[in-house]
Amino acid sequence: QSITEFFGEYGSGKSQLCHQLAVNVQLPPERGGLNGAALYIDTENTFRIERIMQMAKHVGLDPDEACERIIYAEAYNSDHQVLLLEKADRVIKENNVRLIIIDSLTSHFRSEYVGRQNLPERQQKLNKHMHKLLKLARAFNAAAVVTNQVMARPDEFFSAMAVLPVGGHVVGHVSHTRIYLRKAAGRNVRIARLVASPYLPEGEAIFRITENGIEDLEQEK
Ligand code: GTP
Ligand code: MG
Repeated sequence: QSITEFFGEYGSGKSQLCHQLAVNVQLPPERGGLNGAALYIDTENTFRIERIMQMAKHVGLDPDEACERIIYAEAYNSDHQVLLLEKADRVIKENNVRLIIIDSLTSHFRSEYVGRQNLPERQQKLNKHMHKLLKLARAFNAAAVVTNQVMARPDEFFSAMAVLPVGGHVVGHVSHTRIYLRKAAGRNVRIARLVASPYLPEGEAIFRITENGIEDLEQEK
């Protein structure tokens, strides 16, 4: 019943994680799932059914069934993205959707509303969109996941957090849990850093993107 945001640079694994979550939500609760379907709103046309099949096979789900339990919609622009979510109530209810994914939340908004003069309108629209998402998550007892790109911080050349998520305070305030993804040394290794959570301390986890999907790595001491 809340929103989790993954933010990070291109190739940091945001979309791969979304694929994995769309599979894992289908697992029974004792295996970390919700025994439900996923609604996947894709704004960048990076959803790959082949990837779902690989991941499903690895966790022991029937690949075809796993694909059928992902309701997919491509959003062509920000208006369409907003509309898809506005009209999602029925599809969520009828398909027992327990996970709503928007990958990426901000890409259309960012490319369509260029320039400072358009910022208030963009932020207002984004705010409304996120509140609709939150409402759906609450109404249907579902998890919501959004991805977000980052932009360089002009004032922080040397800081460890030299990037900021797009969307500013609007996205930051409505996302309860925020996780920063970055590349690390090693083949396909990534670090997930929990930067905001209503009930967990800050922390990091290492994972690898493999043929099988997202795989946890032991923290190297
Ligand atoms: P943007 O959407 O461009 O901002 O990036 P993103 O954060 O969504 O990155 P994405 O999740 O698309 O990660 C891409 C990375 O995942 C690639 O650079 C690969 O390293 C890895 N990857 C994608 N598919 C596979 C696969 O089938 N096998 C393996 N081993 N790695 C993969
Ligand atoms: Mg992506």
